[in-house]
Amino acid sequence: MAEMLYEGKAKKVFATADPNEVVIYYKDDATALNGAKHGTIVDKGIMNNTITSFFFELLGKNGIEHHFIKKLSDREQLCKKVKIIPVEVVCRNIAAGSLAKKMGVEEGYVLHRPLVEFYYKSDALDDPMISPDYGVAFGFATDEQIAKIRDMALKINAVLKDFLAERKVRLIDFKTEYGVDSEGNVILADEITPDTARLWDWDTNEKLDKDRFRRDMGGVEEAYHEIIRRLTGEGK
Ligand code: TMP
Repeated sequence: MAEMLYEGKAKKVFATADPNEVVIYYKDDATALNGAKHGTIVDKGIMNNTITSFFFELLGKNGIEHHFIKKLSDREQLCKKVKIIPVEVVCRNIAAGSLAKKMGVEEGYVLHRPLVEFYYKSDALDDPMISPDYGVAFGFATDEQIAKIRDMALKINAVLKDFLAERKVRLIDFKTEYGVDSEGNVILADEITPDTARLWDWDTNEKLDKDRFRRDMGGVEEAYHEIIRRLTGEGK
C-alpha cells in the first residue's frame, strides 16, 4: 500500500516510487460551510476526476502550467508533487455566493471586469479573505509569485469562460490553488470541478454545480453528469 501523504475533504494524496510525483484519489465526500455540513454525492469522485482532468488538459493546451500528468483510473490521477501555497484564489465574472451577500447585489450581477480574490487556506480560521500583500508579509510567496498567480487565475478564467460558453455553460466563479514544483516553478494544482466552480446553464441560469448540495436543492448528481455531458458528450 502506498503511503498516504495527506487526506483532505474531497481527496487523498499518495506517494509514488518517484519522489516528484503523487497519486491523487477523488472521494465522494462532500462538505460545505467549511466542513460544518457533511454528505456524499454519489460517484462525485469519479465525475470530478473526469471533469478536472478534462479542464487541466484544456488549460495545458492553452499554455497554463499545471500539476496534472495523466488520469490513471476512475478515481485516480498522477500528478507532479508540489508544495501548495496556502492561498485560495477565487476569480469571478458574475456576483454570487459570498460576494453577492457582501456587496448587497443580486446573484447574477455582471461584474465590470473579472475580480480576483485571495483567501488564506486555513480550516481553523475559516479561510479568511486576505489581500495579496498578506501572502508576502506572512512568507507564503514572493511578490513575483503572487503576481504570477494573479495572472494565471485571469488567464485560466479567460480560457475556461470562452470554452464553457461554447458549451452553453456560464462560468460564474471558480477557486484555484497553486503549488511550487521541484524546479521552483509556480504551477496550477488542486482541482477545477463543480465543487470549486459555479457553473450555470447559459439559457436558464440553472445551477450545475455544488450550490445544489450547499443549498439542498436536489439534483446534485444530475448536475455533475450534465457538466460531463456538455464537456465530453459522455455520461460519466
Ligand atoms: P464563495 O462565493 O462562497 O466565496 O465561493 C466562490 C467560489 O469559490 C465558488 O465557486 C466556490 C469556490 N470555493 C471553494 O472551492 N472553496 C471554498 O472554500 C470556498 C469558500 C469557495
